[in-house]
Amino acid sequence: MTDYTRKRISVNQIKIHMELAENVIAPNGMLLIPKDTSITEKHIFRMNLYQILSVVIKEYSPIIDATETLTVQERQDYNKEHPGSDQESIVAYEPKSINYQNFKETFVQVESSVKNELLAISDGKSIDPERLIKSTETLMGSLRLKSELFNYMNHLRSDIGHTYVHSLNVSMLCNIFGHWLKMPSDEIEDLTLAGLVHDIGKTQIDQAILNKPGRLSEEEFITVKQHALLGYNLLKDQDIPERVKQGVLMHHERNDGSGYPFGLKGDSISDFGKILAILDTYDAMTSNRTYHQKFSPFKVIQMFEQESYGFLDARFLYIFLENIAHNYLGESVRLSDQRKGKIIFIHNTSPSKPIVQVNQEIIDLMTSPHLAIEEIL
Ligand SMILES: [Fe+2]
Repeated sequence: MTDYTRKRISVNQIKIHMELAENVIAPNGMLLIPKDTSITEKHIFRMNLYQILSVVIKEYSPIIDATETLTVQERQDYNKEHPGSDQESIVAYEPKSINYQNFKETFVQVESSVKNELLAISDGKSIDPERLIKSTETLMGSLRLKSELFNYMNHLRSDIGHTYVHSLNVSMLCNIFGHWLKMPSDEIEDLTLAGLVHDIGKTQIDQAILNKPGRLSEEEFITVKQHALLGYNLLKDQDIPERVKQGVLMHHERNDGSGYPFGLKGDSISDFGKILAILDTYDAMTSNRTYHQKFSPFKVIQMFEQESYGFLDARFLYIFLENIAHNYLGESVRLSDQRKGKIIFIHNTSPSKPIVQVNQEIIDLMTSPHLAIEEIL
């Protein structure tokens, strides 16, 4: 077999088909993915859930095509530097609708003001919760339909590569989820604010570590993990509700105790902490660069269904997945056998396997385990 070198990379640099040079071990010592495994989407999802930060992969040489394993950003940069090499344009996946373009323009403006606001808070300025909440509400207001958010977010991720996109995404998800949970309006506002500031502790961490493309040392990983506590410390004397502060502190805790900073379990984790954990994981996972070009929300819902019970709060997770799936009722889809159809019913017990009508045939994906929704058309 070809010789390879071992390379430690952070989880957000992993691409499908890379091969592991070392076992991936969960924080509780359990073997998560064995050495020599070829990475699939499911493995990446599992690593996100267990909050694995880095893995050791095999790097074979010589590399046949230098562009083959590039991330989306790298490929865009490469294409800029090598005009005419863009055989598989990333931009082609961007919807051209006026609605999306308007949303994107508003997003870029709001993102820049949120960034300035969060940096100022990090420098000790008093937080202005109303102004921050207004940022997310402005964005939500620029959507013609709330259900557009999930598709738009997916395109924005490949379109705008800024750090604060994640904060805004999680904040919008918080806002929509608050409505799904039928929270009172003051609680929805607090949850929206918690989404915006959940990673504010990262402003206190050396940006060179956060943006480092290559290998991170164990100490650097420990530093990155401190952001939850650093964020809480930044906010603890601010005049905002305690549930927002607790949410920031606990957004990396996991139901089974495998999270950080305290390894809290179940009911010791606040509701805002549990909700942020779900939405943070959802955004991290769906924004993983390996998903950009062929993103099926139903695949993601299925992975959440199969993998995340025990880690994430089942009650909140269930409501979240069911509502996402309902967004796609009536949409045209392509099945894994390449047939095209329309989603006509979502099962409450298994939102990832709806009933699809293909011409005159009704296909229940719950009773057709060999079939899945490959793509929303
Ligand atoms: Fe975080």
